[in-house]
Amino acid sequence: MIIVVSKVYVTRNLPGTALGELGRHCQVTLNKKATPPSRKELLKNVSGKDAILCMLSDRIDKEVMDAAPGLKIISSYSTGFEHIDVVEATRRGIYVTYTSDILAEATADLTFALILACARNVVAGDVMVRKGRWRVGWTPDLLLGQSVHGATLGIVGLGRIGSAVARRARGFDMKILYHNRGRNERAEDELGAHYRNLDGLLAESDFVSIHTTLNGASRQLINKVTLAKIKPTAFLINTARGAVVNERDLIAALKKKTIAGAGLDVFDKEPLPGKSPLVRMKNVVLLPHIGSASRQTRSRMADVAVKSILDALSGKSPDPAFRVNPKS
Ligand code: DGY
Repeated sequence: MIIVVSKVYVTRNLPGTALGELGRHCQVTLNKKATPPSRKELLKNVSGKDAILCMLSDRIDKEVMDAAPGLKIISSYSTGFEHIDVVEATRRGIYVTYTSDILAEATADLTFALILACARNVVAGDVMVRKGRWRVGWTPDLLLGQSVHGATLGIVGLGRIGSAVARRARGFDMKILYHNRGRNERAEDELGAHYRNLDGLLAESDFVSIHTTLNGASRQLINKVTLAKIKPTAFLINTARGAVVNERDLIAALKKKTIAGAGLDVFDKEPLPGKSPLVRMKNVVLLPHIGSASRQTRSRMADVAVKSILDALSGKSPDPAFRVNPKS
């Protein structure tokens, strides 16, 4: 079969068995380091390749495509694809694929972990017990938090992940508000969600959870002005992309306590620099971008990313569910 000679560059090792499968059909060059390839390594290693399996930390632009003139597919091990110049790839007839909604449920799980951790002082409680600071047994007002059940959840971006969060919220008897560019009446019926304009959602919610993709309209959507609309008792949760939130404005709001706190899995700059004021704040829960990081999900993502490559290299069109661009 022709694909035996195809060459693929994989920018990070992946969980599961998919890379073994890829290696049975193609010649694989794998970056075995625990860190992303440097720009120089990326440009060198894509040379002569038919396919790239990349991560959200790899910038795949014109320069990379120039370095790999025979490229047929860029398969991203992610649901976001803002790191790829899709317009340029489409112009060159290169497939761009992603892992689409495979990670929606895992990311919704982690969103709920952050909601609960923020509301009920889960991290502070753990630290208190471990550090020997739990000095009096049961105490009527120890680490009093806020109820999640019955509270109002505002979902900014009711797509696949936002809807998965809404389904969980129903189990907690929450009132669900959402804001999208347009109304989604089907989701309103199925999820019992109520549409609000952004200001209305921010003003009413006890938890504001960000699930929009990063694009021109959503970049810095949460800023000084919009943060001022959030209730002082409410929490901001972000498992989408750091750049949707103006981090400096968020830090200011957290310092002034104009909002109660934040649960963040994503940041402007990742890894979050140790000098960021966020790491010294008590009213935040911080995670290292692990929204999709369950063994099952990450291994399924690898299967999908590899399957798209094998399809493209054997002359088939990758599954439309995982295609970002129509191949021109
Ligand atoms: C993605 O795939 O875009 C996620 O952020 C990774 O968890």
